[in-house]
Amino acid sequence: MAIRPPLPPGLENYGCVSCHAEVSAEWAASAHGLAWVDEQFKAQLAEKKRPELCYGCHAPEPLLAGELSPRPDVRNGGRELGVHCESCHQDESGAMLGPRGTSVSAHPSKLSEHLRAPGSDALCSACHATNIGPVIGIAKDFASANMAARGLSCVGCHMAEVERSWASDAPARSGRSHSLQTPRDPAFLRLAFGFEHRVQDGKSVVALKNQAGHRVPGLVGRVLTLRAELLDAAGVQLERQQLAFDEKTYLPVDGTREIRFTRAGARVRLSGVHKDPRAAEPIPFLDETLAAQ
Ligand code: HEC
Ligand code: HEC
Ligand code: HEC
Ligand code: HEC
Ligand code: HEC
Repeated sequence: MAIRPPLPPGLENYGCVSCHAEVSAEWAASAHGLAWVDEQFKAQLAEKKRPELCYGCHAPEPLLAGELSPRPDVRNGGRELGVHCESCHQDESGAMLGPRGTSVSAHPSKLSEHLRAPGSDALCSACHATNIGPVIGIAKDFASANMAARGLSCVGCHMAEVERSWASDAPARSGRSHSLQTPRDPAFLRLAFGFEHRVQDGKSVVALKNQAGHRVPGLVGRVLTLRAELLDAAGVQLERQQLAFDEKTYLPVDGTREIRFTRAGARVRLSGVHKDPRAAEPIPFLDETLAAQ
């Protein structure tokens, strides 16, 4: 689900678009393409005494043209393009860094480990590991939980695998979509949790396990509310419980939280809604019934 403001202005004159049309369309509708023109970002800047401290990650100079820094420098021109292609792909010589490094007549290309999972975790973490404004540096959770050692990566969860041509006339092959998987998509958000219903000492217990690569939720202002109804074999409600996750009561990386009932039931019906600062109404993302194991 895309963030709503208009696509970045000047997109039609942007050099990469003419050859990399599909990648560009995905990126342009993503949070990265909209990072500078985002209404929420602009609204918060208006309240800052020194808004320039906020610019670097929302319209950066190419990050890989030097040492990766946790506070990228802001660029002078074309800020409306936000986290643009060169932010992630251009080196100091102007060459395009990629997962393969096959130069083409349009531009020299070089292989970079930063553009190939798991090496790309460091690139993503350059901007996603700092607490600033509404941002919680959730990439620190990813590092402290050693997610990479388990074969997980930011790209692996947030940039879906797709098979297609990557530039005009180039042969099709598999690579990664640039439309980011976002918690505003209920089906993606659902993946954050694993559930289990067991009966322990004659009482039903539901365990919620964090399956994301970091805490949930990971942004100030978001709230996930889960409701659990204990049902008997005939489907009659015996008891209800509720649990909310926000920036203070978040589910930590690798963490589990339990919902404990005072008696046993045959099933538990779980439903969940997501209150996001960008959505007018809370969005349902979960409605499942779990039998006792
Ligand atoms: C170190 C890099 C960095 C800096 C500096 C930075 N941001 Fe961000 N900003 C991010 C990242 C990363 C996200 C995406 C966070 C997410 O979706 O979890 C973001 C997202 C946002 C959002 C969108 C939140 C939403 O509801 O989706 C706003 C608003 C914002 N930043 C405001 C600011 C303000 C205000 C400042 C300066 C005080 C600032 N940013 C400085 C990296 C940065
Ligand atoms: C936030 C960083 C980021 C931005 C912004 C970004 N990319 Fe990428 N791009 C990546 C990563 C990471 C990969 C490699 C993913 C993998 O295969 O592990 C990649 C891969 C690619 C590939 C190679 C595909 C392949 O498998 O051969 C192309 C082409 C590409 N990007 C073009 C673009 C274009 C054009 C833009 C702007 C419209 C853009 N990218 C914006 C991070 C980014
Ligand atoms: C005139 C056409 C053209 C333009 C303009 C162009 N590219 Fe490319 N690019 C290509 C072709 C062709 C490939 C090879 C695609 C393939 O073999 O699948 C490529 C490959 C790439 C790769 C993969 C590098 C690798 O081999 O690992 C990246 C990244 C990339 N381009 C980024 C960009 C960015 C960013 C821009 C804008 C600054 C851009 N390109 C502009 C035609 C173009
Ligand atoms: C140059 C800084 C920068 C880099 C590098 C970067 N991001 Fe982001 N990312 C941002 C900003 C800024 C936002 C939020 C923009 C806004 O909402 O205003 C964001 C938003 C996101 C979101 C939230 C999307 C949504 O719609 O909710 C995801 C997921 C994300 N980035 C993943 C990644 C991944 C994966 C990588 C590495 C391939 C990466 N980012 C690299 C700055 C960066
Ligand atoms: C195992 C899969 C997985 C991995 C690995 C992973 N994520 Fe996530 N990410 C998720 C899921 C699922 C959500 C939705 C949960 C939520 O709403 O907090 C999410 C949410 C996010 C969001 C939106 C957070 C918010 O609250 O707005 C950002 C930004 C993000 N991830 C960035 C990253 C970055 C950067 C990395 C690597 C350092 C990473 N993710 C690694 C699965 C993953």
